[in-house]
Amino acid sequence: MIPKEIIDLITDTARIDEVVGDFVVLKKRGSNLIGLCPFHHEKTPSFNVNPARNIYKCFGCGKGGDAVNFIMEHETASYPEALRFLAEKYNIEVQEEERSPERTSQDLLRESLLSATSFASQYFMSQLSETDEGKSVGLSYFREREIADRSVQQFQLGYSPDSWSAFTDAAIAAGYKLEYLEKTGLTISKDGRHYDRFRGRVIFPIHSVSGKVIAFGGRTLKSDPKQPKYVNSPESEIYHKSNVLYGIFFAKRAIVQKEECYLVEGYTDVISMHQSGIENVVASSGTALTVEQIRLISRYTKNITVLYDGDPAGIKASLRGIDLILEQGLNVRVVLFPEGEDPDSFARSHSNSEVLTYLHENATDFIRFKTSLLLQDVQNDPIGKTKLIHEIVNTIALIPDAIMRSSYLKECSTLMDMSEQVLLAELNKILRARFRKQDDAPELAQRDELLPSEETDQIEEDYIHLHEVNIIRLMLNYGNEEIVVDEIHDHGIEDLTRKVMSVIANELLLDEIYPGDPVLRRIFEEFVYLVKNNIDYTADRFVRHEDHEIRHVAADLLTSRHNLSENWVNKGITVKSEKDTLKYAVLSNINTLKTGRIEQLLLENRERIKKADERDMDDLLAHHQELETLKAQLAGYRGIVILK
Ligand code: UTP
Ligand code: MN
Repeated sequence: MIPKEIIDLITDTARIDEVVGDFVVLKKRGSNLIGLCPFHHEKTPSFNVNPARNIYKCFGCGKGGDAVNFIMEHETASYPEALRFLAEKYNIEVQEEERSPERTSQDLLRESLLSATSFASQYFMSQLSETDEGKSVGLSYFREREIADRSVQQFQLGYSPDSWSAFTDAAIAAGYKLEYLEKTGLTISKDGRHYDRFRGRVIFPIHSVSGKVIAFGGRTLKSDPKQPKYVNSPESEIYHKSNVLYGIFFAKRAIVQKEECYLVEGYTDVISMHQSGIENVVASSGTALTVEQIRLISRYTKNITVLYDGDPAGIKASLRGIDLILEQGLNVRVVLFPEGEDPDSFARSHSNSEVLTYLHENATDFIRFKTSLLLQDVQNDPIGKTKLIHEIVNTIALIPDAIMRSSYLKECSTLMDMSEQVLLAELNKILRARFRKQDDAPELAQRDELLPSEETDQIEEDYIHLHEVNIIRLMLNYGNEEIVVDEIHDHGIEDLTRKVMSVIANELLLDEIYPGDPVLRRIFEEFVYLVKNNIDYTADRFVRHEDHEIRHVAADLLTSRHNLSENWVNKGITVKSEKDTLKYAVLSNINTLKTGRIEQLLLENRERIKKADERDMDDLLAHHQELETLKAQLAGYRGIVILK
């Protein structure tokens, strides 16, 4: 419990512009400050800070409040955590009252360990800069590796003397208990004797998110292959390896500002990148990435770019990490360095702008990366290619967001030269299997394919919703464009030139397909009205609509970020613009919605089959066959298939 007067002191002292300013770049606008909202994605600033009233408010997403609210929201902190965070920033001492006895002893232990690591860090730093051995061995090593003095200071690098127990002796002389030195792993005790774990090594302290030293990595200076290159602190009450990322304390602000986090392997990679001015970088410290580490990054950004040195074995081993990131719902891109280079060497041998350009030009999304990586192994091998597709669709299936899944599926379809429908079928198969596995009852897994689980329905619903959004988007963006479609009639196939909005409106009306979402439906109905009365469409009609929900959705769908092929264009890859492939986009979307409608009819029919008498069964099964045939037809045909 934090006493009331301390809470008041914290809230009175914390200045909203300073607190927000640690995370958001703010510009003066009148008596207020504005910036890009850290809570939702935006390109023009709608995030307002009012220093006079000491509050913030985002007019885009509606979030607002005082400094404490901001920290709670931004750091995903609890109320007391946010208060402590601010207290630390403003050097306010928080004396807590009435704590439970267990908490106190736990806290005491943590505090004791932290004071031991803090002492150790100071000791290693002073050894490095103040002793002859430190200077001639440690400091000259850092200089040789082109680690600048200011980096040595910023990262609090140090040196542990090459003697059995110089550190332990100094710590005990300074009043630190052996117990705590052992628990933090600084001292190793064996047969009643005590040794310094890091003796004769240069020291990289590992900081917590809030900047406390919680552990160390020590690098050997010898090229003795029997010695491990790095020795690290063991797990302790204050150091849970899987929750920690090296460099996070120095990177978090830049990560928020750049909306991106670079993930590298080693201590030296982080430091060299900082030296070239790239501060949004953290290291997994040579171990496999964990879910906790990804969650830690996701507090600051949803975009992770993984930087690999060009060592193929390492790359393949790290694919699992990519899957984990996707599973957490984050975006992941990958940059591969030239053979023999790692981020450290590359950053040292290139200028800041060269490094940035390299990162920019070589960042590939995971699917392109994984495809090209694995495709090399299966050139001209159809079975291998099938396995690869399965592998990649498996990865796509990990992504929790249906919209992202679908856009990756599109890209996979282009890269592998495979029909999207086939990939989708594969994806749905994997998703279904996964949901079945989650069901405990084994008999469920064997139930007839005719009975999909509720979760599968949900996936299909999401998928349909996505296509409803997309079809309305196509109407809004290209409503008046003309396309040539061939329609199948009893008397044959006919070429017709028609407007996009009228093709869509007619096709969907014909099969009684209406968007399920009420706003999309209102937009659709207005298009139907335009088509029926032969009125030309202008985007203004919706952007300035009296219905504010329509205005909002229309504005959203008219902006280009919904254009899925756009990011490929940005990467300098020539793809046809959506306008070039408009006909295909329109028709395939209509077909998908029709397929969805058929799925729905199939489902209804299945329900009837379950309850039906023997004498109705033949008809119902025949209807089932009809629907299945239509569905198959839709999957194979890129023109229009009329359901009735
Ligand atoms: P690297 O071998 O890439 O080390 O391992 P590095 O950081 O680039 O070091 P230099 O450039 O050779 O000095 C990457 C990370 O793996 C962990 C460390 O965290 C290291 O930074 N590691 C590596 C260990 O923990 N122990 C080892 O023996 C080796
Ligand atoms: Mn290295």
